[in-house]
Amino acid sequence: YDHDLLVVGSANADLVIDVERRPAAGETVLGSDLAVHPGGKGANQAVAAARLGARTALLARVGDDAYGRLLLGSQRAAGVETAGVLVGGAPTGVALITVDPSGDNSIVVSPGANGRLTPADVRAADGLLHASRVVSAQLEIPLETVVEVVRNLAPGSRFVLNPSPPRPLPAEVLAACDPLIVNEHEAKVILGEAGGSGEPEDWARLLLAKGPKSVVVTLGGEGALVASADGVSRVPSVKVAAVDTTGAGDSFTAALAWRLGTGSSLAGAAAYAARVGAVAVTRRGAQESFPTAQEVDALCGAGTGGDPA
Ligand code: RIB
Ligand code: NA
Repeated sequence: YDHDLLVVGSANADLVIDVERRPAAGETVLGSDLAVHPGGKGANQAVAAARLGARTALLARVGDDAYGRLLLGSQRAAGVETAGVLVGGAPTGVALITVDPSGDNSIVVSPGANGRLTPADVRAADGLLHASRVVSAQLEIPLETVVEVVRNLAPGSRFVLNPSPPRPLPAEVLAACDPLIVNEHEAKVILGEAGGSGEPEDWARLLLAKGPKSVVVTLGGEGALVASADGVSRVPSVKVAAVDTTGAGDSFTAALAWRLGTGSSLAGAAAYAARVGAVAVTRRGAQESFPTAQEVDALCGAGTGGDPA
């Protein structure tokens, strides 16, 4: 394989304002100066993996505009292969983000060019798909585009999905996931009524019963649950003081996907990914906050890779 990881997904310009309190309906609040950062769940994953040392490629679409150039620049600076980043068709996607003092955010996304990444674009990127050991996706691009990714996976390659923002998924997509990575909110949307008042362990089992080969449920400060045919186990969280959680989930998914491709167990890869995400929340922004492998080791202790499994 030429690439350890191919990310198929969104690229957004993140327009960020720090606020004392995120506004309620009908309310106006004053905030900080505007900051513009490269973001988007797909672009974030690609940068996160590349910074850890993974040979990474991105399949995405940006507009022929200044934000598109910002995003291409940040991918290239991180060492991501950008031959699969298509340009034009609509303005670059934008995310309007407010961040409060606890590091929590609210985000509104205008998909723009991300919404024009089509199944035909996926078929045209067949060479990229076949050159990649692991393929990951999220849901800021059209669902039919993700379906086409699943249909065009090379035999032997592994598919990882973070269904964010969540919506119900076709059986064909669920069956391809190894793993499906969800937080509590995403788990509830995908399970619908079936999720009921259950506990996270129940959601993990119910999600697994919907067809994925494995499932990861992230629980913020409570760590994560990993579930497969081997059973359900808990991965501890790494305690840190959060400054800005934007993109931390993307770095978790990217780290997990990359480590799985290097042969890690699901629990081992999730433990490593939790440490990557922990570093990311201690720093501002999304892509700028993602650590190198050396920083993960330095800030969280333990040896190379930090993966016992
Ligand atoms: O997951 C974080 C990302 O969500 C931000 O970078 C923003 O672009 C939104 O897509
Ligand atoms: Na961050």
